[in-house]
Amino acid sequence: MNKKGFDKKLRLLHSISNELALSRSVNDLCRKMIEYSRSRLGFDRLSTWFIDKDPNFLIGSFGVDEKGRIREETKERIRVDCDRTVKNIHDKKMRSILKHGVPLRDNSGNAVGRGSHLVAAIWDGKKVIGYISTDNLIKKKLFTRYDRELFELFASTFGHLYSLKKTEEALTSAFDKLREAQSHLIQAAKMEVVGSLASGVAHEVKNPLAVIIQGVYYLSKKLPSSDHVCHDVLKRMNDSVKRADDIIKGLLDFSVVTKLEFIPQDIHSIIEKSLRLVSYEIDKYNISIHRQFAKGLPDVKIDKNKVEQVFVNIILNAINGMHEGGQIWIRTYSNGSKRARKVYVEIEDSGPGISEDIMDKVFDPFFTTRRSTGGTGLGLTIARNIMEMHKAKIALSNRRSEHGLKVTLIFRR
Ligand SMILES: Nc1ncnc2c1ncn2[C@@H]1O[C@H](COP(=O)(O)OP(=O)(O)OP(=O)(O)O)[C@@H](O)[C@H]1O
Ligand SMILES: [Mg+2]
Repeated sequence: MNKKGFDKKLRLLHSISNELALSRSVNDLCRKMIEYSRSRLGFDRLSTWFIDKDPNFLIGSFGVDEKGRIREETKERIRVDCDRTVKNIHDKKMRSILKHGVPLRDNSGNAVGRGSHLVAAIWDGKKVIGYISTDNLIKKKLFTRYDRELFELFASTFGHLYSLKKTEEALTSAFDKLREAQSHLIQAAKMEVVGSLASGVAHEVKNPLAVIIQGVYYLSKKLPSSDHVCHDVLKRMNDSVKRADDIIKGLLDFSVVTKLEFIPQDIHSIIEKSLRLVSYEIDKYNISIHRQFAKGLPDVKIDKNKVEQVFVNIILNAINGMHEGGQIWIRTYSNGSKRARKVYVEIEDSGPGISEDIMDKVFDPFFTTRRSTGGTGLGLTIARNIMEMHKAKIALSNRRSEHGLKVTLIFRR
């Protein structure tokens, strides 16, 4: 390249750096940098190397192979002293090195020809973070001092953009983590409020409700059976009080005053017991239960009654969401190392699943889409609370190929 060509390329460098700044990610930036240095700046075979945490090593990025094709080299890690020119620039802290008539090598260090080799330091404004190397293996064009200068400038522009993109990615990921932590905190705060209010309110309200229920029962016995209007009023009173009583029971469960007893249990027998507890609903709605139980599953240390309650809540949710004749699949398996063995229970249903816009609300206390049919919105809140007390996990996801919800429970031994 001569002086005139250099001036032209300098102007081009400005628009190239503007375009590179719009890259979607660090990887995208590195790939585009290689693309543009070939197609617009006219360089030949290239490779990019970043200094690893251990400064004796370099990590690959993107490059151009012997046939002129762009390839990803992010899994490559080489010693700095693999390439003498790179070693030189690294040790002497130079901006670039240009050598003519030297052996040109592939990534494994094998000589693939002879020619000019140019290496420039990638400078991010504060320090050298890597190197871009190019040679004239393919086009055989001789490098001039203008090529060298352009290459130096390009490497430094790229270095600045690279560290900006890296910072941007780190910031975005930190922001995402922060948001997640914040939503967990909000959730925990909500739980704390409900928990502390629950037991107090529940105890205060429970006894008056019992009095009302007895009163309604007494009146219904006293009324002549011909007084349909009054019987109807009493029935509605009774239903409403029952509903209030359900809520109170839920709240008491939620605040769990009783001490838990963690005893090794066979999870399959807990599942079977829970299924028996809801057998009325299973029969009433003609639900089919499919068991896929793993053999030789290790016992899990749990409070039997509480975990039964988790299964009952989940199975009732599945039944509530389905039409008559729905299906429930219960699958168990375990994995993990011998010492950190986990037991998984997956419960899937053929119901409608949960729409994504309410997915993050269903664990909230009192969130329900079934208010009109008697839902209190405490089932999943209680289930998660119990799972957390076991340091176990509960996760919901919609089934991928079919309609329906999949609930995954993960117990530690
Ligand atoms: N298997 C499921 N299929 C579809 N929707 C579900 C399922 N499980 C939960 N949901 C949704 O999550 C909401 C909250 O569930 P949760 O068990 O906490 O309360 P609920 O079932 O409405 O009332 P209850 O307190 O009586 O259990 C439900 O109202 C429903 O919208
Ligand atoms: Mg429920």
